[in-house]
Amino acid sequence: MALAARYADLLCTEGVVRGLIGPREAPRIWDRHLLNCVLMAPALATGQRVADIGSGAGLPGLVLAIARPDVSFTLIEPLLRRTTFLEEVVAELGLDNVTVERGKADAFHGKQSFDVVTARAVSALSNLIAWGMPLVAADGALLVMKGSSAEDEIEGASEALQAWGCAPPDVEEIGDPDAGAVRLVRVRWSGGPRVSLRPQGAGAAKAGARARSKRRQGKRRGDA
Ligand SMILES: C[S@@+](CC[C@H](N)C(=O)[O-])C[C@H]1O[C@@H](n2cnc3c(N)ncnc32)[C@H](O)[C@@H]1O
Repeated sequence: MALAARYADLLCTEGVVRGLIGPREAPRIWDRHLLNCVLMAPALATGQRVADIGSGAGLPGLVLAIARPDVSFTLIEPLLRRTTFLEEVVAELGLDNVTVERGKADAFHGKQSFDVVTARAVSALSNLIAWGMPLVAADGALLVMKGSSAEDEIEGASEALQAWGCAPPDVEEIGDPDAGAVRLVRVRWSGGPRVSLRPQGAGAAKAGARARSKRRQGKRRGDA
């Protein structure tokens, strides 16, 4: 709790001054941000390697790292002023289970893999599948925090799920429903065609799009 309180303090002072969170977020930093993020903590297991993509000022990555010292975290964030803040918080809180990496998620495709990849407020589920799934180990999962739009986003991501060889996602409602819906969308590899459909390397998102386009062409030829 002492570490979480110090992190809340840093978010509400330096975080606001540096424009990493809006000034209106400061009074609701606990209920809207820290307590919201810590709801994911029970979804992690001891010893797992977790990547948080698009960590921003450390949500949910730093909250989870404070709550779960038994899990190691890599925070992936492209913007320098955000990674600078993340590194400063990690040093000040003495978190030895956190590594900060600067870059977009796809820069790490084919280089690192993780048991769990998390994301909150980063992009549509279809993009997160293309950015996050190539980082997910064979028996791992992508865990995305969404609100009431979760089911619609899954429907909108049906092509991406198929192209990347993912199983139909699970949705778990977490926390107190009276405090606003938080839905955890869990995407895993399917046991089926992922080997041929899971492109590797920095061009993975484009390759995923090519895979989808090829499938459509094949379908049209089949229809003709
Ligand atoms: C709206 S902020 C959300 C930050 C944080 N997750 C939160 O819940 O407050 C989105 C973050 O995603 C980062 N981002 C955007 N595209 C990305 C990509 N392709 N890979 C990794 N991070 C990305 C942005 O730099 C930004 O910090």
